[in-house]
Amino acid sequence: MKNKLLLLLVLGASFVKADEGMWMPQLIDALNFKDMKKNGFKLSAQQIYSINKASMKDAVAIFGGGCTAEVISNKGLILTNHHCGFSSIVGLSTVENDYLKNGYFAMNQSQEIFCKGLSVTFIKRIEDVTAKVMMNLNPAFSEKQIDSTTQVNMKNIEKEAKKDNHYDAFVRPFYYGNDYYLFVTEVFKDIRLVGAPPESIGKFGGETDNWVWPRHNADFSMFRIYANSKNEPSEFSADNVPYTPAYSFPISLKGAEKGDFTMVYGFPGRTQEYLTSYAVDLLMNQQDPVRVKIREIRLNLMAEDMKKNDTLHLMYANRYAGVANAYKKWSGEMLGLKKTNAIATKKKMEADFLKQLENDPAKKEKYSSLFKQFEKAYADYAPLSLQYDYFTECLLGVDGFRMAGNLMNVFNELKKKQAGRDNKFALVLKESTPYIPFKNFNKLTDKKLCKAMLDVFVKEVDKSLMPSYLDSLLDIYKGPDQLTDFLYNNSSIVDNQKAKVMYADLEKNADLYEHDPMYMLTSAIYAHYQKAVIPQITYYEHEIADLQREYMQGLRETIKDKKLYPDANGTLRVTYGKVADYKGKDGIEYRHYTTLDGLVEKNSTGEEDFYVKPRLLELYAKKDFGQYADKSGHLRTAFIGSNHTTGGNSGSPVLNAKGELIGTNFDRNWEGTMSDIMYNPAFCRNITLDVRFTLWMVDKYAGAGYLLNEMKLVK
Ligand code: ARG
Ligand code: GLU
Repeated sequence: MKNKLLLLLVLGASFVKADEGMWMPQLIDALNFKDMKKNGFKLSAQQIYSINKASMKDAVAIFGGGCTAEVISNKGLILTNHHCGFSSIVGLSTVENDYLKNGYFAMNQSQEIFCKGLSVTFIKRIEDVTAKVMMNLNPAFSEKQIDSTTQVNMKNIEKEAKKDNHYDAFVRPFYYGNDYYLFVTEVFKDIRLVGAPPESIGKFGGETDNWVWPRHNADFSMFRIYANSKNEPSEFSADNVPYTPAYSFPISLKGAEKGDFTMVYGFPGRTQEYLTSYAVDLLMNQQDPVRVKIREIRLNLMAEDMKKNDTLHLMYANRYAGVANAYKKWSGEMLGLKKTNAIATKKKMEADFLKQLENDPAKKEKYSSLFKQFEKAYADYAPLSLQYDYFTECLLGVDGFRMAGNLMNVFNELKKKQAGRDNKFALVLKESTPYIPFKNFNKLTDKKLCKAMLDVFVKEVDKSLMPSYLDSLLDIYKGPDQLTDFLYNNSSIVDNQKAKVMYADLEKNADLYEHDPMYMLTSAIYAHYQKAVIPQITYYEHEIADLQREYMQGLRETIKDKKLYPDANGTLRVTYGKVADYKGKDGIEYRHYTTLDGLVEKNSTGEEDFYVKPRLLELYAKKDFGQYADKSGHLRTAFIGSNHTTGGNSGSPVLNAKGELIGTNFDRNWEGTMSDIMYNPAFCRNITLDVRFTLWMVDKYAGAGYLLNEMKLVK
């Protein structure tokens, strides 16, 4: 008995540690509330999530494609990160009116600028639809039949939820398809830029500081949601008015100290906490290192050109940030997993799991063969995954190939249209219009990228696995250099002028494009992967998903003393912890907060990533921090905590025990990026921009203090 208890403790502890977990808000009351209270939370579970009354969930939104934003005034003002508003800010900028470089602040509502394509999504309600999704499943069904039946059921549930209202809806699997939930949403499309600091402050520290603590950038931007006269979503219109939210967050100027309760409410994108040792092995020993190696080459080439002038900087800024962000995260993740012997830890968990089933031989047998199946599936999957990574990271890292791939899509639909079949031509054409000819595309930069990427491809990919047309072209042109010259000298796709002319009447010019050398090569490459790699990959991914679903079920059945949270999947979650410091490398201890003094200190190194405009240094010299200063008169810039967060949590409100906003989540520490695979409470930290720094920037730096009048400040 004692042994069993000990085992349970060990097992439980290895799966869910203090502060770990991303919880579904509608289940907080049942699962976490006691624990949250114990840790200091002062409000009720209904204040976090309710469908009958206004609650915090009405002030937390999906921002654009993959960030979070929070409502901070009853006039629809929202706060998110600078890096979340980045692509919208870039989209509104020109070299003459460079809001990225100079920042922007509306001085009244008429100066707020509409951002095309940007949306803000609220969750109206969440519903457990597991039984409905599993309806009509027959035990005799094959995996394929199960899949198609659940798909149909999901579509029907979504359709039903959208009937007779202006809402949207989606169903998502949880716990690897053991549970399903419906999310009914309201999507606003008239979103306007209110303000953003200059890039040198919003992204202060650049790639040097990204994913690293200590941090000093004011990573925020502000937007406003506009609605029609009924306070409902509407396309952009001059008649629209600021949205009146059901709830908006009060903002505390009191800050937070070590040990204080904190909670993050947002939309974490993806975690994989329940992987087996075989998956972790593949991830840290193959996928991460290969992707990192290839990205490093692309990044160096892009950086070289971006330094040349403002036009090129603006052209590649968004892409560079995206490529660099994952690159750096993967390198940190790799190191963290290695340092903590992740594979051995997972192996031990698997052994412990089987030991748990000692008294249930049938189950034990079932699960030990499950692990053998995992092992075999990953052994078969690994080489395919490698091929696929070379395709996506090398070839699709070149805009020439990507644009041609885009065109293939357009022409496929065009052919359907010409044959009088059902088609999405208009839609696909509209979606690709901004890309063809590529708005942010420089032929010479892309040519360099193409040479370098083909070079890696030729060196790393076995001849027998190469698309044969590419292989023969490489033979004819004696390698990547001359082949690239040929492509970029003769293709219209990679020539903005020619592409513009052809694109003006795509239907008429389809023939010309289809005989374009870039197009022909890209078609052959896609055809190869579609035939020789993708079907097999899909096959193994399905198999692994099925195994993972069974494993997850087994874990939920055996681990009784701890609650297992579902992996992040882009849906609304609450995570809570406390403000906490940590120990880094031997001999290094990190304090839990930073101040503006540190920004100035970094700036004085003269390094490019730490440049700021003189105005900030002048204001610093005056030390006019007013109501934003901490007790000792310093302006705090950021703090860290033990909240379990991931990509997508950027822009999330960070709240104190009373539910007041104390900051905006924007990053994690380098040592802790492994938390997507294995959270470790000793050193996994989320990084929060202190809201007092944000407000000081708005008020003192930008002179837009009028915005504070619509906020509820708690002093
Ligand atoms: N690492 C942060 C997040 O994952 C911020 C990324 C944007 N900043 C940058 N320097 N690339 O998304
Ligand atoms: N910067 C991330 C984002 O854009 C958040 C950091 C993380 O991955 O935890 O969502």
